[in-house]
Order: sequence, then structure tokens, then C-alpha cells
Amino acid sequence: MKSFFNGETELGKVLIPQNRLQERVSELGQEISQAFDGKDLAIVAILKGSFVFAADLLRAMNIQCSIDFMGISSYAGQPGSGVVRITKDLDESIAGRSVLLVEDIIDTGLTANYLLNALRQRKPASVDICALLDKSARRLIDLPIPYRGFEIPDVFVVGYGMDYQQRYRNLPHIAVLRLNGAQESSPAATQPDQADNKNGS
Ligand code: IMP
Repeated sequence: MKSFFNGETELGKVLIPQNRLQERVSELGQEISQAFDGKDLAIVAILKGSFVFAADLLRAMNIQCSIDFMGISSYAGQPGSGVVRITKDLDESIAGRSVLLVEDIIDTGLTANYLLNALRQRKPASVDICALLDKSARRLIDLPIPYRGFEIPDVFVVGYGMDYQQRYRNLPHIAVLRLNGAQESSPAATQPDQADNKNGS
């Protein structure tokens, strides 16, 4: 039987192996625990791409917190515009609470910027970003990312919750995706439905 993980020509090299992910997520969990100790921490994880990261991050934390999920998708025809539609809203109020926005990857920064503004309108005590991956070479908006897992180059990645057309989320590591046998560089720049991944990712 053809292996899901090894037989696909689209999958490129492993960029971040499973053990490295676990180590870094554990470090982030400790950092966040120290920073938010004694605060009323509300984790807001963005679906779907951050669900694996958020689940591991939560278990690496040793302070009290709640977790809620927000689902988003880009408006049809406007991928990359940074204007997103909320497909699943938070269940609980974040007013007066310390919010940690957990994202899988910050690319241009438009999505996270939109979400930050949307969350701030709900009058939390604070909102900070925690992103597993930072593709800073493609940033269009300067964003503070106080909790960041890894800086990565301008490549399209999948695995550990992140997808390409809803596939590869279950890879235990992060791999580069090759499109149509192309090189392992910059597919994100030419990937038309990248923002639609939030539909998601
Ligand atoms: P931004 O608005 O350009 O920062 O887009 C961020 C979103 O685009 C992420 O939350 C992902 O859904 C998606 N995205 C950007 N780069 C990648 C990638 O390399 N793999 C998977 N999804 C990506």
C-alpha cells in the first residue's frame, strides 16, 4: 500500500522534526506560564490550523487558563486582503481578561492584525500573539509576536495542524510542500488559495 506520508510527490523535506517541535512548544508553555501567572488567561486558538499546536501548548502550561476557538475564512475573491469572515465566534466573553491569540503561522500578518483589532474591540485587559511559525520575509504589517516558535523561510509548509487543501494536517512534523514538482521555495507567494486555507487553516 502506498504510504500517505512517503508516497506523495508533493511533500518536500522535513523542515521541523517532531522532537524539535515538542521541545520548542514545551519552552513556549513555560514562558507563557511565567508571564501570565496570576492573570485571568483566555487562550484563543484560530481554527483550523492551530488546533494541534494549541493542544500541545496548553498541556505544556502549568497555570490556570481557558481555551476558546475562533474559526475564520477569507472573503471569496479577496484572499490575502486581510479581511476575514468569522465562521465560528468565541463562546465566552473576553472582556477584562488577558488574551493570548494562538496562530499556526504568521505570513503577511494581515490576518493576525485583523484578529487583533477584532479582539481588542471586545475590551480585553490585553491581547498578545503566540505563533508557532513566523514567515517574516513576507510580512506586510509590523506585528509584535512575543511568543514565537520558529522563524521559517519563505516556503509553503504543512503538517502539525497546517494543511494544503485540507490534507497533511496529521503529519507529526512540519514539512515543505512542493507544488507540481516545483522547487521547495516560495510556493506561498504563488499559492492563490493560501488565505483560504484558513477556511480553514
Ligand atoms: P497572513 O494573513 O498572510 O499572515 O496569513 C496567515 C494564514 O495563512 C495562516 O494562518 C495560514 O492559514 C495561512 N498560511 C500562510 N502560510 C502558510 C503555509 O506555509 N502553510 C499553511 N498555511 C499558511
